[in-house]
Amino acid sequence: MSNTVVVGTQWGDEGKGKVVDLLTAKADMVVRFQGGNNAGHTLVVEGKQFIFHIIPSGILYEGKKCLIGNGLVVDPEVLLKEIQDLKVAGKEITPESLSLSEKAHIIMPYHKAIDLARETAKGRHKIGTTGRGIGPCYEDKVARTGVRAVDLSEPKTLEEKVKANLKEKNFFLTKFLDAEPLELEPILAKYLQMAGRLVPFITDVSLELDQGIKANKRILFEGAQGTHLDIDHGTYPFVTSSNPVAGAACAGAGIGPKQLHHVVGIVKAYTTRVGAGPFLTELEDETGDYIQERGQEFGATTGRRRRCGWLDLVVVQDSARLSGLDSLAITKLDVLTGLEKLKICVGYELDGERISARPASLEKLAKCTPIYMEIPGWQEDISRARQVDQLPPRALAYVKTIEEITGVPVSIISVGAGREDTIMIQDPF
Ligand code: IMP
Repeated sequence: MSNTVVVGTQWGDEGKGKVVDLLTAKADMVVRFQGGNNAGHTLVVEGKQFIFHIIPSGILYEGKKCLIGNGLVVDPEVLLKEIQDLKVAGKEITPESLSLSEKAHIIMPYHKAIDLARETAKGRHKIGTTGRGIGPCYEDKVARTGVRAVDLSEPKTLEEKVKANLKEKNFFLTKFLDAEPLELEPILAKYLQMAGRLVPFITDVSLELDQGIKANKRILFEGAQGTHLDIDHGTYPFVTSSNPVAGAACAGAGIGPKQLHHVVGIVKAYTTRVGAGPFLTELEDETGDYIQERGQEFGATTGRRRRCGWLDLVVVQDSARLSGLDSLAITKLDVLTGLEKLKICVGYELDGERISARPASLEKLAKCTPIYMEIPGWQEDISRARQVDQLPPRALAYVKTIEEITGVPVSIISVGAGREDTIMIQDPF
């Protein structure tokens, strides 16, 4: 038995969806443990594209159990739409294939309204959130006023909570954020109607995972976003409101740390970021455009153009430490094909000194300059490589450099969007 966690090592969008999809082949259960529909996992299966925001990517396989852990904030409208879209695509989703934790928090219309109004009020200082109400929903969770999935099956509790919350939220929306107030009745009617469809999926996910563990099932923990968007360890305040590090899989799914056996860190062969915030290796030139176009770097959730830059191994090394990475999966290596020279950031210079970890202070970070190692690029098409020795020497040297500097072995290399465009060096399961 071997339970595996997949986490992003950069600022999200590393291609976790594809790796999770691959690893699901050997898993019995796939569980998400943090975030919400700010995530967007794009999968290409037999040439058909699927984008999931809430449901674990493993749902496309037959006979796998997908679970939404207590650590998530769930927009019921989005979840129901994903269930419906899958039905239209020919896949019926039932409580046998999907569970939603009764302790997951529910995104309400006032969370979205506050998220959007707050970003507008911040103007040029905005975080660039996805506008899905993620932060405000987690705020209510911590404030102990949130609506949980279990409340959907108790109409009286739901009504009392929404009523109390709305009073406070409307005050905040109108008096502070200069936004429109929301009405109780339409919210209640809509949520009660959605509750009827969601209640069959709501269960104790921690208990279900425990039963799986006792029955020697293999569990895959699917992280969303990336380590540098972590509320504690990321480039605060330009972060999301959850913990995308591997340790969060325990609290966010309801299992103990001894149940995690392998942690795979997903590293895109270059760096991207959506939204605002520091990005030392950003390329605002034609090389950045080349990577953006070849990598089709547009957000799966908001459609925003992603900022692109060189691979920053300071960022990846931080992630290796924070999540205790056992192996790396390098994605989108094929995107770099055709560039004459490649740069890898191997350290930062701050006030004349070399540092190897990202400082917490944004002021200090702004003063850092990346220290690059330059290596020659490759021109050969690598998209058909299925074994490491089929990679051209320069592409292999790029991979080896990542391995050497981070000290973490590479288990998977992705050379294209499809399931088959993969070099599996060592299966983490
Ligand atoms: P929020 O999670 O919507 O509050 O957004 C906070 C920050 O995290 C913004 O910079 C978003 O662009 C970023 N973010 C949130 N989810 C993702 C993701 O799945 N991929 C990449 N960036 C994300």
